[in-house]
Parts: sequence; structure tokens; C-alpha cells
Amino acid sequence: MSYTIKDIAVAAEELKKQFETLEDKKAIRRSPTFRELFSKIKTAEPDKRAQFGAEVNKLKNEVEAWLSELESDNDDRAPIDVTAPFPTNSNPTTRFSLLPTQKGSIHPLMKELETVLGIFARMGFATIESREIDDDYHMFGALNFPEGHPARDDYDTFMTTQKDKKGKQFIAPAHTSTMQNRVLRQFASNLVNDEPIAVVIPGRVFRNEDLDARHEHTFYQLEGVYVGKAVTAGNLIATLKVFLQEYYQQELEVKTQPFYFPFTEPSFEFALSCPFCKKQGCNVCSQTGWIELLGCGMIHPNVLKEAGIDPTIYTGFAWGGGIDRLVMMKYDIEDIRHFESGKLEFLRQFS
Ligand code: DAH
Repeated sequence: MSYTIKDIAVAAEELKKQFETLEDKKAIRRSPTFRELFSKIKTAEPDKRAQFGAEVNKLKNEVEAWLSELESDNDDRAPIDVTAPFPTNSNPTTRFSLLPTQKGSIHPLMKELETVLGIFARMGFATIESREIDDDYHMFGALNFPEGHPARDDYDTFMTTQKDKKGKQFIAPAHTSTMQNRVLRQFASNLVNDEPIAVVIPGRVFRNEDLDARHEHTFYQLEGVYVGKAVTAGNLIATLKVFLQEYYQQELEVKTQPFYFPFTEPSFEFALSCPFCKKQGCNVCSQTGWIELLGCGMIHPNVLKEAGIDPTIYTGFAWGGGIDRLVMMKYDIEDIRHFESGKLEFLRQFS
């Protein structure tokens, strides 16, 4: 007696039944039904033997598929992951391999920011992070910008369509000075204890800029606020000079020139001698030997008053400048847009 192709279908039925009842599913491989099928290949009529053998083999593969399906059902992967680029219940060996991974690293701006904050911490400054969404009062009102003042337009500010309780649009802060009123209030008790307020405020800021190698819509600033008794512009200049010399690890010259900000009086633009060419003139400093780095000044009495601090007793200084700029100079980075680009060739240079 020899098996026919039709008998394969019968055997398949039998195997399915056995498979369902078996405790140890893998034992199906040793089923007598299989053994019988294999032994019958030899006795099959010669002209049907090859086809018969192929059918038996197909059945064997089908049974193996039942087993591997079971395996993937049993493992603890989530049964469905619509984001996976393969059926999550498929046999792991049949999944195509994913792209190789590489270790990530800290973004260069954050790495440098840690260095910067470390220097200020050693100088006695506390650190408070700024917000990424703020309001009209902290962006302008608390900083002595009267309603409708043209200086408001200097800060190409992004606003939400949603409004706050006062009917004003929320603001993506265009500078970290939005935090001045908050830190002055938060640390006002220092003054009562005859200690100064000394805080640096790093944060992400946003401006509707025309983008180029030096202008980005999203960048980082570091604000500094120092208030105490008999604080002068000399203290401001010395503080920034010490910081910059420590950051660039070299002696530097600094200078200020008059400027205008509503929240400082007097206000300055602060420049340092070019750390690259030692004032000889190079591309970094546009051949001038000097680099204009940040805005600063003596905190306006109205800003102190607005935070509940008596400007007849206390004075203070503040500054705000781009962190991106500082880092670009340190590493000779030619385009500010690299930072937010996510370009791996750029980022890996700092890993
Ligand atoms: N907020 C100013 C800007 O982004 C920079 C600035 C100037 C900050 C003077 C200050 C300051 O704290 O006192 O343009």
C-alpha cells in the first residue's frame, strides 16, 4: 500500500488534532503520523515519489510554523505595536534587522552650559531655569516697557492665539529677562539677611528672526541678576570679566559702550577683546579685535520697585547674552543653525 497526495490532507488533520492536545507541543515532531509519512516516501510509486516527498516536507514546515507562532505568542513582547516596522508576532529570525545604533551624547550647548553654570556657582550664583512659555507682564510690563512702547518691537516675539486671564496673548519668551521679576521676589529675603541676590538664569528663547549663520529663531541665553547694597557698574564689569577669562582660559580685555534697554539705567553693550587674534583682527571679530557679546546695565529702579525692593537702599546689575554665541566662539563654529539642526556629523564632533 502506498500513500497518495490526498492522504497528506488526512495526515495534516490528524497532526492538527494531536498538536492541540499535546502538552509538550514540540513532541509533535516525533508524532507516529510523521514517522509513517516519511517511511512511506520510499514505497511510493516511483513517478509520484518526488511530489509526495515535497508534500510531506511542506507539511513538516507548516507544523514548524505552528511551533514558532506559539513561541512568539508566549514571549512577553506587546502583542501589537503599530509603530514596529515588522509584524510583532512574527518569528524573530525572520524580521529584517534594524539600523545599527550608536551611543548618543550630551548636546554641545548643554555640555558648555554646565561649564558656564559651574563657574558662576563658584562665584556664589544660584541657578534658576527660565520658562518656555510666559506672559506679557513678565516679558514687558515688569521690565519697565510701557504699553505701546516702540522698544517692544525690538523683540520679534512669538505669541499664542490663546489669551491669559487679562486678555493678553501668551508669549514664547524672546529673552531670559522675563525671569527678573520672579527671581528678585524669590530671593528678596536674602537682602533682609544682609546677603546679596545672586542668580543666573539659563533658558531657551525664541524670536521671529530672519535666519542666517548668526541668527536662529530658537537659541539660548544666560541672564544674570545681582542686587545688594552699594553695588556698582564696576562690580558688573569685573564679574563678567572674571567669568569670561575663566571660560576662555586666558587674560582678556573688556569694554562697555552706552546702549538702551528699558530695564537698565545706565545700559551697556559689553565687548571683549577677541580671544582668537588678541586684538590683531581676524574673521571671528570681523577684523575689529573686539567682540560685542551681550547687553547689561544697572537694574532700573522701576524694575526693583515692581519686585518689592526699595531702590533707595539697594542697587544691582543684570546682564543677558547668547550662550550659542559663546560656544560658537570657543569652538570656531561658523553657523548658529547647526545647534538646532540635529545634524549627526556636527553633533558627533562633541561626543
Ligand atoms: N534681554 C536683553 C536682550 O535679550 C539683554 C539684556 C540687556 C539683559 C540688559 C539684561 C540687561 O539683564 O540688564 O536683548
